[in-house]
Amino acid sequence: MKGVFLRNKEIPLYFGEVNFNGVKKNINFDTHNPNNPEMFYKHPNGEIWIGDSITWLNSLPNDSVDLIFADPPYNIKKADWDSFESQQEYIEWSLKWIEPAAKILKCTGTLYICGFSEILADLKAPAMKFFKNCRWLIWNYKNKANLGKDWGRSHESILLFRKSKDFTFNIDSIRIPYSKHTLKYPDHPQALTSQYGNGKKHLWIPNPNGAKPQDVIDIPQDIIDIPTTCNGMHEKTLHPTQKPEELLRKIILSSSNIGDIILDPFLGSGTTAVTSEQLKRKWLGCDLNKEYLEWAVNRIELVENWDIDKWIKYDFENMQRRNSIR
Ligand SMILES: C[S@@+](CC[C@H](N)C(=O)[O-])C[C@H]1O[C@@H](n2cnc3c(N)ncnc32)[C@H](O)[C@@H]1O
Repeated sequence: MKGVFLRNKEIPLYFGEVNFNGVKKNINFDTHNPNNPEMFYKHPNGEIWIGDSITWLNSLPNDSVDLIFADPPYNIKKADWDSFESQQEYIEWSLKWIEPAAKILKCTGTLYICGFSEILADLKAPAMKFFKNCRWLIWNYKNKANLGKDWGRSHESILLFRKSKDFTFNIDSIRIPYSKHTLKYPDHPQALTSQYGNGKKHLWIPNPNGAKPQDVIDIPQDIIDIPTTCNGMHEKTLHPTQKPEELLRKIILSSSNIGDIILDPFLGSGTTAVTSEQLKRKWLGCDLNKEYLEWAVNRIELVENWDIDKWIKYDFENMQRRNSIR
């Protein structure tokens, strides 16, 4: 990689002691009731809560959050928290968290929901009663082997809901590298049928910061320059469905501004809080699972104090490198 991007691997020591920025709360897990969420960790820029996210979301003030990223159970029986009796039960459960999520979202805000297309498709219409506008993003990955006897899965979907036309979208923060073909032929005659037609040559000048982003997001999970292991390293944990930081950085950069509040009701190993912290946003998260949240805290404490431009460059150079080796 061209730039210098050394990631933190260990939380810094201060006089021989681990120097935490945040504070882990004392919770009695013998008596803890998930229906009564408790604060798990308090940091100058955010909070993590442990408990049921539907109860937690219902306790938060209306119009108070700028962006919600939800990576909920997918209803694919991947873990004990991912099993529902039926798709109907899953839809009903989903609407129970989507409704309060819509209420706490500011009118300029966006809610992103991850899932498999065939499952999310059933959520789109009932969820729209809380929103004004919807887009459908595809996260395309190329690093999963097809071990079954069916079409191999190479994408997940991300539904994007907005409450008004006045939404935050920072296109210049998430530009992508141009394809080799586009850069090779910047100066070319246009067909008469083209919108740039009438036989003239159209001189196109590439934007120095890259091309506009597209709704098929292309992020392989395993191509990271720094080797990852679960202990003490910056990204990979043992969480069964951990999302890549790069995906979250795109979502946060595009749909929020510095200092905005980002919320994740299914925080897991903390990817949303970690990337919000990297990008100088405030963050709130909740999860049922204590072990996952311990990993989240560790990852937040490891966040490097880089300028936002450095994170953008880090991802852009990674994308360029991936393009060059394909
Ligand atoms: C798909 S995973 C999220 C992974 C996360 N995006 C990451 O990068 O690590 C879904 C998470 O939802 C949590 N969960 C499931 N049901 C929940 C509920 N009712 N309330 C809070 N968290 C829940 C699970 O413990 C799991 O960590």
